[in-house]
Amino acid sequence: MTFLFTDVEGSTRRWEADADGMRAELVAHDLVLRGAIEAHGGWVFKHTGDGVCAAFASPRCAVDAAITAQLALDLPVRMGLATGEAELRDADYFGAALNRAARVMAAGHGGQILLADSTAGLLSGVDLRDLGPRRLRDIPTPVGLFQVRAPGLRTDFPAIRALDSNPGNLRPALTSFVGREAVVDLVRSALKAHRLVTLTGVGGVGKTRLALEVAASLSDEFPDGVWLFELATVTDPGAVPDAVAAVLGITQQPGRSVTDSVAFALEGRVRLLVFDNCEHVRDAAADLVEAILARSASVRILATSRERLEVSDEQLWSVPALDVDDGIGSAAANLFVQRAQSVSAGFSVTDPADAAAVVEICRRLDGIPLAIELAASRMSSMTPIEVRDRLDHRFRLLVGSRRGLGRHQTLRHAVAWSYDHLTDTEKSLLERCSVFTGGFDLQKRLRGIRISRRRLCRPGPAGRAGG
Ligand SMILES: Nc1ncnc2c1ncn2[C@@H]1O[C@H](COP(=O)(O)OP(=O)(O)OP(=O)(O)O)[C@@H](O)[C@H]1O
Ligand SMILES: [Mg+2]
Repeated sequence: MTFLFTDVEGSTRRWEADADGMRAELVAHDLVLRGAIEAHGGWVFKHTGDGVCAAFASPRCAVDAAITAQLALDLPVRMGLATGEAELRDADYFGAALNRAARVMAAGHGGQILLADSTAGLLSGVDLRDLGPRRLRDIPTPVGLFQVRAPGLRTDFPAIRALDSNPGNLRPALTSFVGREAVVDLVRSALKAHRLVTLTGVGGVGKTRLALEVAASLSDEFPDGVWLFELATVTDPGAVPDAVAAVLGITQQPGRSVTDSVAFALEGRVRLLVFDNCEHVRDAAADLVEAILARSASVRILATSRERLEVSDEQLWSVPALDVDDGIGSAAANLFVQRAQSVSAGFSVTDPADAAAVVEICRRLDGIPLAIELAASRMSSMTPIEVRDRLDHRFRLLVGSRRGLGRHQTLRHAVAWSYDHLTDTEKSLLERCSVFTGGFDLQKRLRGIRISRRRLCRPGPAGRAGG
């Protein structure tokens, strides 16, 4: 037998708001449901107050009845179907399939029709969206869930209300997110249009923080979860696939590499994967990303890296510094003030000289959030004016008492993380470019390289590269 269970979403709230209106709506609701069920050869064997339980000999008829009813109902009704053996006693059915139908229904939303795999496997010619195996209350093994699609039915729903309804490993942020509203929207749109978006930019500009903000805002759109892989701590490129597999709980399959095992396990999953800080294991991360994208069309990937991954179809997004142009009202100054207040409760910028110093600090730190946070942490013992006046010694000054990320404890560490990953040639080029104060363009750089070469050939202390 195939069982159809229904329930009105938010009925308690509706009864409390307007009992008379709800009573009238329920009469119409009962008529629609009973009519659709009986027209498709089913019978209602129980009323549950705000819903019905119906039995059908044919799974296809049960689905058609659900669609017919759903299209005619005014109230938001969730529907769940499951198929299996059941025992009929005193005009009531008993058996595991009924419990399943009830749990499948409870996982859905008003307007949605969900099927257990036991029903879906018996159907042909029905448009179904595979929502993957989900853990449902009181059912020991995950149940494969499918959403029925049909003309006129709503298609977009919030995430399934399963025990693992928020699968994934994103943790809530511990500090406030400042500014960047428009950027978050743009990256969200980029991720809808492209399967791989890489956020690039200098150390500390806020790539990771932005990626996490975007990922959290999209969690409802990825029923199989948002998964974060923090690669900064993975020093061996060969260990990248293992690190990702461990987070996802995937084990290596016989005869397959770890990369292939991960790619195969992700096939058909609607997941957002965040590969954070790929720069130092770039090729290994790129290989894994490529394998996953080749296998699964429903997985999206958001990567952060100081350098692009160079995977085909990669959409690059260069993360800008925080805006400083609006003075004390700018996002950069806002970040400074908020972080200063967390180390010095009474911190404020009511004095115009302090406000001007804060803006000057943010400007001279190029609006880089990491540097601004480090400078703001100094507010426990210094004034904004004192910090501004010492900014020429920023590598000595910008030392936070931060725990956690080693490369974010000081500005020197943040720069060293990039420098240490350069090849010898790149290091020497960078050293030569350090003759320029401020920025430089290609012409200047080429001239600078020639000058450095000449100086490099000269003996003595003046001949040191980039001197
Ligand atoms: N928009 C923002 N609002 C609040 N804090 C931010 C924002 N952007 C970045 N930060 C903070 O600045 C610091 C550096 O940011 P983040 O770690 O995202 O930089 P990153 O570009 O990923 O650096 P790296 O290249 O070293 O990985 C973090 O403490 C982060 O929380
Ligand atoms: Mg980062």
